[in-house]
Amino acid sequence: MRLEINNQTHEVQSEGDTPLLWVIRDELGMTGTKYGCGLAQCGACSVLVDGAIVRSCVTPIDSVVGHSITTIEAMENDPVGQKVVAAWVAHQVPQCGYCQSGQVMAATALLKQTPNPSDDDIAAAMVNLCRCGTYNSIKAAVQDLAGQKVGTL
Ligand code: FES
Ligand code: FES
Repeated sequence: MRLEINNQTHEVQSEGDTPLLWVIRDELGMTGTKYGCGLAQCGACSVLVDGAIVRSCVTPIDSVVGHSITTIEAMENDPVGQKVVAAWVAHQVPQCGYCQSGQVMAATALLKQTPNPSDDDIAAAMVNLCRCGTYNSIKAAVQDLAGQKVGTL
């Protein structure tokens, strides 16, 4: 099976019903995407599929063949992702850091789709769980980015 991840084609051996998260981490060795609950509850495993946020722990790989998958590893070369990471640093968002790749992916997806999101838009999009309780700093960082309309980059 061929998967297009971060603009590269990967030939993978896993069965079609294998969750994308397993393939990304275990078969392809991209460990920036995290395993939290495995039940589509926490968002630690968030990646983008054709620009939309997806929980990769419950996404079988045969459902994403022919689609464009983006992981946290691509954010260093993504103009919006770079701005999100910079805002995360400026606001000192991460605590333990475990949930943060998923949070960055959620913020990037939001800002690409809605460059100047309202507080309601932010609340609706930033629903990933954080056991360290970084919710206020996540909100402040995304509000900063909304004001800059970085999604129009
Ligand atoms: S690990 Fe996928 S939602 Fe928690
Ligand atoms: S920063 Fe620790 S779980 Fe979110």
